Amino acid sequence: MDSNKSGPLKGDITVPGDKSVSHRALMLGGLAIGETTIDGLLEGEDVLATAEAMRQMGAQVSQPDQAGGQWRVIGRGVGGLSEPADVLDMGNSGTAARLLMGVCAAHPFKTFFTGDHSLNKRPMARITKPLALMGAAFSTCSEGRMPLCTHGSDQLIPIEYELPVASAQVKSAILFAGMNTAGKTTVIERKSTRDHSERMLRHFGAEVISTPLEGGGQSITITGHPELSGQHVIVPGDISSAAFPIVAGLIVPDSQISIRGVGINPLRTGLIDSLIEMGADLKLENQRTESGEPIADLIVRASSLKGIEVPPERAPSMIDEYPILCVAASCAEGPTRMTGIGELRVKECDRLAAMVRGLSAAGIEVEEGEDWMVVHGRGNHPPKGGASIEVELDHRNAMSFLVLGMVSDEPLAVDDGSPIATSFPGFDALMNGLGAKIS
Ligand code: S3P
Repeated sequence: MDSNKSGPLKGDITVPGDKSVSHRALMLGGLAIGETTIDGLLEGEDVLATAEAMRQMGAQVSQPDQAGGQWRVIGRGVGGLSEPADVLDMGNSGTAARLLMGVCAAHPFKTFFTGDHSLNKRPMARITKPLALMGAAFSTCSEGRMPLCTHGSDQLIPIEYELPVASAQVKSAILFAGMNTAGKTTVIERKSTRDHSERMLRHFGAEVISTPLEGGGQSITITGHPELSGQHVIVPGDISSAAFPIVAGLIVPDSQISIRGVGINPLRTGLIDSLIEMGADLKLENQRTESGEPIADLIVRASSLKGIEVPPERAPSMIDEYPILCVAASCAEGPTRMTGIGELRVKECDRLAAMVRGLSAAGIEVEEGEDWMVVHGRGNHPPKGGASIEVELDHRNAMSFLVLGMVSDEPLAVDDGSPIATSFPGFDALMNGLGAKIS
């Protein structure tokens, strides 16, 4: 795919549904009694993998005839899933794999998980370790990686577990296993991570108590064996997808765009905070709450940005947004320094190394350390572009470089645009509708 220098971006859009919320809606719908209806579900490959896995374990999941219609799930009740007859293929999705490992660990059957080349390289010991403490067993490839098999049990023991890494996926896997475990299971997180699981568990009727900790973070306790009942879920627009048109609208001169109904969960808005500190003209309007999640309309106008220090404690609230922040930083005046971002090395690819390589190829000066990077912004001088970037099965890197191409002197290409379908189906058409030139 190629992205060419763009004229001003104009328009009023919505972005696809939130990926994190979509996975959880399908999983909890499949574990509830009765019917769950879901509006705005992200129909991207990652979420479709979750839908298929839930079907393989006995939940009825009906996809609407028309894209964007209402999904229906008839659940099996907590602990009521059945052994899948085949391997669960989670494709590119770490969230699908890790959260379902928590679900399956608490069911008395074996589940085989595999994924694509990227997912099978990602660390899974962070999930299997706490679940093993609860009594589940695992057969894994070397270093605990996938493909792997969970040997689940409905007789797990509740644990209190402090997360060694700030990860909503690890937290959620433990809470989901705790659902079919007698007693109270507690996760302690010293740095707060996205709380969609806690919000949605409550929405479906589970008792989940979050208690703030001195010095930051919280402990989250779920009481086992809740009766989840089918609910209506409205999935907000994904702020991690909105991030691409937001940054495009800020850096392409004379742009003005509105993005309606975007989730603004405070544990997800680190990019908005950073962009506003950089001088972005970015307004949140019409703030409201749907299905327990805060949402707003975002109004973006092209802005002169300046480089900032992004503090390490902000990382969990914008962990997926560093690639696109790098693009904003490339167009800002002066350096932007990002620290405490070692987790980027174990995402869909080593995002830190991949961004450094790609930005350098596009003519931007970058410095890199084990868990930090500095982007030396070019201010009003457009990047050279004129490179083809390897995206290594990483959807967010692909979209980030296509946005950078919109302001580069020469077109920027990505070698493989197909991973974009995991999280943002229709990305190129939506951006081109605003005025981009992506082909
Ligand atoms: C997610 C949590 C984050 C994020 C991922 C989605 C989730 O991962 O990067 O895209 O839905 O819980 P970690 O938990 O590994 O930080």
